[in-house]
Amino acid sequence: MKQYSMIVRGGTPLKGTVTAQGAKNAALTLMPIALLLKGKKWKLSNIPKLSDTQTMIELLTSLGVKSSRDENDDGIIFDVPDEVSYNVPEQKARKMRASSLMLGPLMARCKRVVLPLPGGCSIGSRPIDLHLKGLVQMGAEIEISNGAVHARAKRLRGCRIYLDFPSVGATENLVMAAAFAEGTTTIENTAREPEIFNLTETLKAMGVPIEADGTGLIKVTGVEELDNIQARVIPDRIEACTYILSGVITGSEVTVKDVMLPHVDALLAKLEEAGCGFTVKDNSITVHPMKKAKGYLPLRPISVRTLPFPGFPTDVQPQTMAVLALANGVSTIHENLFETRFMHVAELKKMGANIDVSGNLTIIRGVEEFKGARVTATDLRAGAALILAGLAARGETIVEGFEHVTRGYESIDSKLSSLGAKVRIEENEICG
Ligand code: EPZ
Repeated sequence: MKQYSMIVRGGTPLKGTVTAQGAKNAALTLMPIALLLKGKKWKLSNIPKLSDTQTMIELLTSLGVKSSRDENDDGIIFDVPDEVSYNVPEQKARKMRASSLMLGPLMARCKRVVLPLPGGCSIGSRPIDLHLKGLVQMGAEIEISNGAVHARAKRLRGCRIYLDFPSVGATENLVMAAAFAEGTTTIENTAREPEIFNLTETLKAMGVPIEADGTGLIKVTGVEELDNIQARVIPDRIEACTYILSGVITGSEVTVKDVMLPHVDALLAKLEEAGCGFTVKDNSITVHPMKKAKGYLPLRPISVRTLPFPGFPTDVQPQTMAVLALANGVSTIHENLFETRFMHVAELKKMGANIDVSGNLTIIRGVEEFKGARVTATDLRAGAALILAGLAARGETIVEGFEHVTRGYESIDSKLSSLGAKVRIEENEICG
């Protein structure tokens, strides 16, 4: 895979408006619904153009689902054959952990799946034991061999499943498996992220009786087939939070449009606690410009704990850390979702940040400024954090591993440039 860097020249105040893309993590769970529609052409709109959504398109293509883009509404029309393959190709599956979201739909449609085990990644081991445990309860026989999950079932039957952890992916897979199971499946202690409701509301609109009231209890009654109803991906709350923080870290007035406000409430509450000002109007948020006092961002230090929704989102943790590293005081962040989601700390320290890590706790002592440096993105949110730090830094920051960022941020270079940021992308020469 080609490698790229984003070069960020810091110190330029931003100004202007960006519109949130379709949510990566909603698109990745909605696109596999195509596997549940036998012989139909199904339209899903507002799909962001990302390398992860492209990987999902390629995965579906390898299973027999053709697709074509409808540029009018960032939509994709999935042309689903009568028969699909249940063999998820290894090379494609390894590119993205979200290939695990093939489990539920393929078990529903084919009662079989061969899925290469998704690897861990830089933020943690990320097992899928809860996904598999739920499928076994529904009647699947599962064997792990040659690095792949081999699952099959005569039929999937509704049952009561309690999730030991409100896992987003496990909730999504089990909801999709339950859509074609016999009887009713009750899933308790589910994830409550907005992407979950984008999925349940979509399946409900397609004829699946689902009760999902946001309390962590989801009831799904299986059907024979889905109605072919067009669906739409919700706005990306994590991308929106990232651009809100671009305004905060540069002390600029930035507006983010097309945001579902309840989805970004945790960040707004913590920013308000830190003394940030912003205006909320309809579906847009405008960050009020802040003047630096003696170098520091005029922000009060805060304590952040990442938790499952509606708690503070782990996917905004690295970006928030970059901001707090310039606040006037000592802040803390507890990362409770992933065991190693602090790879960005060492990189921020190369720019002058003063951060100590102790287990899942980081102690962040604010400094007056960052200095531009050559840093490396280890995952997409760490990359976003380093870009934000570069926007506020003195001099030039080279963010290597920019290809991680393109997995989740559509056109981030042109979006930042439209706000006045001085950024450009360079392809890295890699020795063979
Ligand atoms: C989804 O990952 C998101 N990805 C992640 O976003 C996000 O960080 C995460 O949810 C938490 O909100 C997509 O939706 C494609 P989990 P997922 O299952 O489903 C443990 C980004 O930056 N766990 O809720 O993999 C797991 O190890 C990405 O956009 C088990 O132990 O998250 C982790 O510690 C990063 N066993 C915790 O639960 C399981 O069977 C949360 O995982 C499943 C999960």
